[in-house]
Amino acid sequence: MKEKILIYGASGHAKVVIDIIEKQGIFTVEFLVDDDPVLKGKNFFGYRIIGGKADLLATTDAPGKGIVAIGSNVARRKVSAWLVEQGIERITAVHPSAQISRGVKIGNGTVIMAGVSINADTVIGDDVIVNTRASVDHDCCIADYVHLAPGSTLCGAVSVGTGTLVAAGATVIPNLTIGENVIVGAGAVVIRDVPDSVVVVGNPAKVNRR
Ligand SMILES: CC(C)(COP(=O)(O)OP(=O)(O)OC[C@H]1O[C@@H](n2cnc3c(N)ncnc32)[C@H](O)[C@@H]1OP(=O)(O)O)[C@@H](O)C(=O)NCCC(=O)NCCS
Repeated sequence: MKEKILIYGASGHAKVVIDIIEKQGIFTVEFLVDDDPVLKGKNFFGYRIIGGKADLLATTDAPGKGIVAIGSNVARRKVSAWLVEQGIERITAVHPSAQISRGVKIGNGTVIMAGVSINADTVIGDDVIVNTRASVDHDCCIADYVHLAPGSTLCGAVSVGTGTLVAAGATVIPNLTIGENVIVGAGAVVIRDVPDSVVVVGNPAKVNRR
């Protein structure tokens, strides 16, 4: 019998998360929750949106497990903290086509999408998105609320700080440290450590703004 879960956030990203959960085959989606009042009662990708936080709290038989399907690192972090306060456990969604090597650890609420490769002894934190075909090599350390966007490549032993976005197609060479709340722009090639709270773009990547 599959365990019932809720999904928080009804966006394009949520469609991808739903698809992964259906293919993963461990959980069944009971309903979605979204704070946009316009969406309440609507059908979304085959599932019902019950409304926002108040509606979830008023639902007596709500699942005790769920996942936040919100692309923004900041918003995902806030909603995830709220779910934890309500005692709702976050599940981990892993697409069956993802290649996960030995010794890899994956945190609660994290989504691993199709075609991803994660190599030996890498540690991925909570509420992380490892998006389609991202490649994370051995011994990397990815903090909570990070988004590794489609096609991004982290070579071996790279550390990525909390809340950072490594955008589509960006590459980080081995042994580097990317700070917290950084945006590594699409297609950037990072060849030096990156401090906290900056945007870096280009090849080689340089600070664009703080
Ligand atoms: C880096 C990024 C966030 C910058 O966005 P922004 O602050 O709105 O930047 P702007 O579009 O105003 O551009 C500012 C300057 O930076 C340059 N620039 C922006 N993004 C760049 C990139 N990825 N690579 C190289 N240069 C870039 C622009 O050409 C512009 O240069 P100019 O001032 O000389 O004309 C954005 O371009 C980006 O790469 N987003 C990532 C999207 C993504 O992959 N999301 C995940 C989806 S799943």
